[in-house]
Amino acid sequence: MSETSLNEPIYKTDALIAEDIDAYLDVHQHKTMLRFITCGSVDDGKSTLIGRLLYDSKMIFEDQLAALEADSKRVGTQGQEIDFALLVDGLAAEREQGITIDVAYRFFATEKRKFIVADTPGHEQYTRNMVTGASTADLAVILIDARKGVLTQTRRHTYLCHLLGIKNIVLAVNKMDLVDYDQSIFNRILMSYRAFASELGITHFTAIPISGFKGDNITTLSENTPWYHGVSLMEHLETVEVADSAAAQKPFRMAVQWVNRPNLDFRGFSGQISSGVIRPGDAVRVLPSGKTSTVSRIVTMDGDLDEALAGQSVTLCFADEIDCSRGDVITIADDPVECADQFEATLVWMDEAEMLPGRAYWLKIGTQTVSATLSVPKYQVNVNSMEQLAARTLDLNAIGVLTVTTDRHIPFTPYADNHDLGGFILIDKISNATVAAGMIRFSLRRADNVHWQATDIGRAHHATLKNQKPAVLWLTGLSGAGKSTIANKVEQRLARMNRHTFLLDGDNVRHGLNKDLGFTDADRVENIRRVGEVAKLMTDAGLIVITAFISPFRAERDMVRQMMQPGEFIEIHVNTPLDEAEKRDVKGLYKKARSGQLKNFTGIDSPYEAPESPEIHIDTTALTADEAADAIVAHLIP
Ligand code: ADX
Repeated sequence: MSETSLNEPIYKTDALIAEDIDAYLDVHQHKTMLRFITCGSVDDGKSTLIGRLLYDSKMIFEDQLAALEADSKRVGTQGQEIDFALLVDGLAAEREQGITIDVAYRFFATEKRKFIVADTPGHEQYTRNMVTGASTADLAVILIDARKGVLTQTRRHTYLCHLLGIKNIVLAVNKMDLVDYDQSIFNRILMSYRAFASELGITHFTAIPISGFKGDNITTLSENTPWYHGVSLMEHLETVEVADSAAAQKPFRMAVQWVNRPNLDFRGFSGQISSGVIRPGDAVRVLPSGKTSTVSRIVTMDGDLDEALAGQSVTLCFADEIDCSRGDVITIADDPVECADQFEATLVWMDEAEMLPGRAYWLKIGTQTVSATLSVPKYQVNVNSMEQLAARTLDLNAIGVLTVTTDRHIPFTPYADNHDLGGFILIDKISNATVAAGMIRFSLRRADNVHWQATDIGRAHHATLKNQKPAVLWLTGLSGAGKSTIANKVEQRLARMNRHTFLLDGDNVRHGLNKDLGFTDADRVENIRRVGEVAKLMTDAGLIVITAFISPFRAERDMVRQMMQPGEFIEIHVNTPLDEAEKRDVKGLYKKARSGQLKNFTGIDSPYEAPESPEIHIDTTALTADEAADAIVAHLIP
């Protein structure tokens, strides 16, 4: 880039700015905002188009507005002109350098509206970036090169925009100057796009023939396309109805962000209204509890309101003292949202590490975070051909449909009805990275129809009969670390002490219950999930369970810990260094793994995540198996 950097203030003269900065800012603040995304492959002319929009509009950046506000004297220094070609070069260079940045957001404003445009890279490997950009957009501009027509990328981007619920789609047929503004070419592209769009269920879109480079039909209608009778792209962007007005027509929903209780006399529930309108006196219902009350006050920083609608942040007070906490959803009483703990959802996987069915992730939806597990995908969508493919997992940028199970009932809506209450993200519990974005399709009633059967002879009874406290002695460590040997000795000692025990050993369980599982990450996760469930049933039966599994992942060991009663899970790290385990090589498996005959072997080409704070740490290079067993028994029965 040359001496004019895009980060420097650049603004063009606007009569109002010069005359009266306060009046200008007032008008500016009350303009509506349109968030949109531009999609198209690298050569479709995205940078040129964005450059053209910025150039032809009164380009004002938000930080510059703040600067204007702070120092209105600076208005006198405005009026730097910028060269169009330079601007486009700058945008392209910025995107190339910033390829690792998820999405570049650019702000501009015209006299009618403010705009935020999300500029995302076009290639398939940037699907997650596109999803991020599209997730907050009201409108998508799908760019097509008039010489090339509808491409795979066009289809993929349209699919993603549709998936994310963008209702306003603009088909911008670009580079019309290079096809001599030929109407028949435009019409052919229009027809082929329409055929594809209707397959997806898109009934409405706006097609505009443009040239970003020459400026045809960007801000004014071009003389070169007399056959086009629509509006310019800018006029469309300025006048298209923004979704907000539609949200107000829907039933009232607000997720509670926090409970406001400064003193005993005041109790209010704060949040941003997601849809609908609310007035004092309206009957409301709180989900998931289902409790009802009426709104007594709508409190804001600027005083009480007679009415509040979608998009506003308010504090609601109720006529009755009903339970309501963060994460709950307040709805209009006679049209509440559903509550469920199993959903079918569409997931866009955004992490380098593949999705692991059975692993517990944090699921953030509305204002709450719960624990959730994922099923094996029902299918994966080939975003280029729209085909449904069989899949066992989802890799980076893959899109699939699967079942999500949460650890409790949560209030929700399908994503199609409400993005705030139907859209979620998944977070890895250990790395805290966002690994997926999801959209709820519908709830599954399966879980609702399977009720927990309370039995008369409970876990306390079983334990009392056996005269012991149930526990899980969970041995983890590399293959050949000595887990089975030590576990066996622990069980012998406990048996001698008349304790009722059961030993679950990796190799044995894999002969029966888990004989369908191998050693991929996903299979190991499922192996441990099943063993955890079995161990839990056995503790319910009053047993002391001893397990000997490599159990290489922290996440699943933690998951099993969470399944047990507090204090019941005793994690024992049987710590044998890799070279030592390999030297012993009791089963000859390390040799096979080293020679490449055995794949995914723990410690060689599959990871082992050592416990960070196990209840017991056994250093097998310092203790014999008998000493280790004694230490474990002494911990259990002091
Ligand atoms: S875990 O990782 O899913 O917890 P598990 O403890 O059930 O593993 O099984 C490990 C045992 O399977 C090892 O002790 C070894 O005998 C055998 N085995 C066979 N292939 C592998 C492999 N690729 N990695 C680790 N263990 C393997």
